[in-house]
Amino acid sequence: MPDVVLLDIMMPKVTGLEILSIMSGDDVLRHVPVIVLTASTDAQTRLESLRYGTSDFLAKPVDPCELLLRLRNVLAAKSHRDYLARYSEELEEQVRLRTQELATSRERIIQCLARAGEFRDDATGQHVIRVGRYAGLLARELGVAEEHAATIEQAAQLHDVGKIGIPDAILSKPAKLTDEEYNTIKRHCEYGIRIIQPMLDDPGTDLGDLVRKLESKETSLSILETAAIIAGTHHEKWDGSGYPNGLAGSDIPLEGRITAVADVYDAISTARPYKEPFTDEKCLGIILEGKGGHFDPAVVDAFVARYNDFLAIRHATQ
Ligand SMILES: [Fe+2]
Repeated sequence: MPDVVLLDIMMPKVTGLEILSIMSGDDVLRHVPVIVLTASTDAQTRLESLRYGTSDFLAKPVDPCELLLRLRNVLAAKSHRDYLARYSEELEEQVRLRTQELATSRERIIQCLARAGEFRDDATGQHVIRVGRYAGLLARELGVAEEHAATIEQAAQLHDVGKIGIPDAILSKPAKLTDEEYNTIKRHCEYGIRIIQPMLDDPGTDLGDLVRKLESKETSLSILETAAIIAGTHHEKWDGSGYPNGLAGSDIPLEGRITAVADVYDAISTARPYKEPFTDEKCLGIILEGKGGHFDPAVVDAFVARYNDFLAIRHATQ
């Protein structure tokens, strides 16, 4: 790559203006300074070469002293420009690295919080990671834009963060729960929202505000806003028989409908201290049976379409 081009205009086979035209159309070459050698009387050629971004002219016949001086100036300017370009590349690289670091640390903090919620049930934290992956997979299969699908993948990990507010005696009770105890368990949805809510940009935001924001589609929801929606709606059922609000159909935010399938599939397909996993056939049967009752039919279809990916994630994280 030349630092500078000394270009004559009248040459055999190709003219200097043709070369200038090619250089000005090339992303790299157009930054190389060009000194055009012209007869001082040729105003038209000077004008045209100016249009192509010529750095300087030199009248023929060339005076060696003048040539040296022009070259020195043009090269000094180029060296300064190259330095600025390198500096800006370095800055961009630093910003990219720092942004990546922040994203990674945010991801890890979300995982820590999610694991804390599940710690009594699943000390390894694999459940929350899998539910997040399943939710991301379903979102993408359902055509959710990549940026929001990635947000859902992270946010779904926090679906049960509210379990941290449920007493041990109820959460870990081996025997059947009484109605009252079951009602206490159901409160983990509300606790989840209450844990996440003060961290939102506007801590006064409630679930209704978030759903309206989601429906308006004017701004994208942050991870924590999405997490609050998921924490509050992942136990709602398509037919309206779920909790805490008995929402039905598309009144349940898609994020909650997606996480419902992801959460149930993981609960039935993996071992817990108190139970063996169901067989693949039984798990698939339970999800299919829930189509249109417990689950959004479209989400079940997405589950079936990506069933092999579900199996692959499960086998990779057990
Ligand atoms: Fe839950």
